[in-house]
Amino acid sequence: MMRLLVLGAGGREHALAWACGRAEGAVELYGLPGNPGIAEIGMCLPGRADAPDDVLAAVREREIDLVLVGPEAPLVAGLADRLREAGVRVFGPSADAAGLEGSKVFAKELMRRHGVPTADFEVVEDIAHARRKLEEIDYPHVLKADGLAGGKGALIVKDADQARAAIELLMVEKKFGAAGERIVFEAFLEGEEMSVFAIASGESYRLLTAAQDYKRAHEGDRGPNTGGMGSIAPVVTWSEALEQRVRREIIEPTLSGMAREGRPYHGLLYAGLMVAEGAPRVVEFNCRFGDPETQALVPLLSDDLLGTLWAASEPQRAPAELPAVTYEGRYGACVVIASGGYPEGVRKGFPIRGLAQARALPDTLVFQAGTVRRDEQLITAGGRVLNVVGMGDTLPDAVDRAYAAAERIEFSGAFYRRDIGWRGLQALERGAANAAGRPESQ
Ligand code: AMP
Ligand code: GLY
Repeated sequence: MMRLLVLGAGGREHALAWACGRAEGAVELYGLPGNPGIAEIGMCLPGRADAPDDVLAAVREREIDLVLVGPEAPLVAGLADRLREAGVRVFGPSADAAGLEGSKVFAKELMRRHGVPTADFEVVEDIAHARRKLEEIDYPHVLKADGLAGGKGALIVKDADQARAAIELLMVEKKFGAAGERIVFEAFLEGEEMSVFAIASGESYRLLTAAQDYKRAHEGDRGPNTGGMGSIAPVVTWSEALEQRVRREIIEPTLSGMAREGRPYHGLLYAGLMVAEGAPRVVEFNCRFGDPETQALVPLLSDDLLGTLWAASEPQRAPAELPAVTYEGRYGACVVIASGGYPEGVRKGFPIRGLAQARALPDTLVFQAGTVRRDEQLITAGGRVLNVVGMGDTLPDAVDRAYAAAERIEFSGAFYRRDIGWRGLQALERGAANAAGRPESQ
């Protein structure tokens, strides 16, 4: 019996815990701090995921075999190093390797050094230089804070006035603190955005099929950026040819570059891509699973995800070839039900109704994010409350199932986007879809 501890409290962590726990009788699940969804399938432990002492205490007390780290902040702060030094097995990169997400400057320069295709860029460290650059650049342009900014540190500017405002925000008002001391000026990329996950151990890796998230708050991809309002997997325009290019041009040179520079990557490498005319370019790297892409993706895998994570989790003893992750050939769609006001002033504390009815539907899963349980009643406790996932043999089936389930759920102020998956559905109508979704071409 393996004892698995999942760190974090969101829908991504619930989905990962669920996926790893599918091998019934083989896994004892723990969450720290977890959430009411994880509490249904495992045991939630007190403490903070970003407090190494809390994590170590839980690992010792529960004799944990493997720690799976959900969010990026603890990784960038060195949690995996601390755990490995203490002899604890962990799936997640070292702080040096997590620099791919923790510092845009590091990531961009690494890509330049190793020929990984990405947008042209320049690093700017002082305000006078930044203001001079406003006159030189083409618009739209993208200005990014160097450090972690909770997914909000990339500002797309359409003209010099917006760029000036962005510089004020990042470098003068220091909206993201030290994260904005250096900024990256980056060319705007056109194309179709997608997220690709590689389970990596040094230079060996297993690629999962591509997913796509819907970041804007409102239909038609309008409104403010959020942590993600929904996702689908696989991406219908993902193809064998594109997969090969992603492997050869992006994942492999990045992993070998990291290894050669003494920062071998052990964990989940998330490549956020922009694909135009079949050519992928990197928009960003993240050092953990995507949220909410994971929720749509992991239900499509057979129950061998944990075996691959386990094999990749020990730098010293990782096998030359990681076990394959098998994909069942279906589609997943995740609809996020959010609290009124999200992503700005969130109203919470409302009872949630209809969860059992939603879950009773076929090919449906509900992962929990911003919920708490109070006196046997599930209450809203955050911006993104529930992640409703539908699965089907086609993308339209998956989307319809997710919406059929979402309709059964109610709480005061609840809202969700009605057009999750529209890019894929439109591509299908255009006949632009490929034989999608083979995650491994072994
Ligand atoms: P990041 O903070 O790098 O994750 O970027 C956040 C989001 O901004 C991405 O998911 C894209 O939608 C958008 N974005 C970032 N960089 C670019 C770029 N160079 N061109 C176009 N869109 C971008
Ligand atoms: N879905 C975007 C992210 O996880 O960063």
